[in-house]
Amino acid sequence: MRVLVAGAGGLVGTACQRAFGDDDLWAVTHAELDVTDPVAVEAAVAAFRPEVVVNAAAWAQVDACDADPDGAFAVNAVAPGILGRAASRRGAVTCHLSTDYVFGGSTGAGGPPYDEWSPVAPLQTYGRTKLGGEDAVRRSTPAHVIARTSWVFTADGGMTARILEQYERDGEVRAFSDQWNAATCGDELAATLRRIVVSGRFGTFHVCGLGRTTRADLSRAVLEANGVDPAAVVDVSMASVPGLSPRPSDTTMEPRALRLAGIVGPGPWRDAL
Ligand SMILES: NC(=O)c1ccc[n+]([C@@H]2O[C@H](COP(=O)([O-])OP(=O)(O)OC[C@H]3O[C@@H](n4cnc5c(N)ncnc54)[C@H](OP(=O)(O)O)[C@@H]3O)[C@@H](O)[C@H]2O)c1
Repeated sequence: MRVLVAGAGGLVGTACQRAFGDDDLWAVTHAELDVTDPVAVEAAVAAFRPEVVVNAAAWAQVDACDADPDGAFAVNAVAPGILGRAASRRGAVTCHLSTDYVFGGSTGAGGPPYDEWSPVAPLQTYGRTKLGGEDAVRRSTPAHVIARTSWVFTADGGMTARILEQYERDGEVRAFSDQWNAATCGDELAATLRRIVVSGRFGTFHVCGLGRTTRADLSRAVLEANGVDPAAVVDVSMASVPGLSPRPSDTTMEPRALRLAGIVGPGPWRDAL
């Protein structure tokens, strides 16, 4: 399979490089391909002639998106359509990454998780831009896989790395105890993307780890898995941090579409730590 991965230098892009490593892979970083440049995207797709274009490029920092909405819309909402159209013109499948932040969150843990048919209601610029990107992909090509994921970690990056860095730096980890979600192993996410593509199925899929947790409990589990006393985690509330972009309290998703398609997704997040 000929696979072009855009945004390959990021957390998920790097995991995709591993998952598609046995394929005929061209992994391009931001420096090598700016996904907001239609001419460059067209040229890259025309030159490589991929069968699959994976879009792992994004502005994924929630607060940075609020600070520069135009920049965020350009990368997260407009560029996915550019990639989708270029892929479609060459008969390639578009595989696009999205987020649980397209949902508004319920009032706390315990509500039913969101499936692929749940109504979306993003709370902040990041979520609005990512929802725009989903719509752009759907409009640009029927041959698309949109994978919504949440709280991604890998052995050397993402949430787990940030938790350990905070502990090394401060001797404690301050983490929200009032935000719930499903944490996701990046390598299981990327392997699942490949399985979806190989299956020939199109559509929107929730690709997240199983189980619901808070950032604080995830932090405790990460410290414990790394031989550190979990008592170093200090529970804080989102309201106690001034200037934070609005964040949903619980956007835990369930992988209903994967289940219906009979495709194996990520397992319990705790097992992957
Ligand atoms: N990480 C999570 O917990 C999480 C959760 C839910 C959904 N997601 C989704 O997963 C996807 C990947 O996120 P991630 O966590 O891997 O983010 P990331 O580590 O920040 O990676 C994003 C990559 O996109 C690149 N990029 C930014 N602007 C670009 C442009 N104009 N052209 C080409 N590349 C560009 C960045 O390069 P530079 O840094 O060099 O600019 C970076 O390498 C996103 O769609 C995100 O919404 C992630």
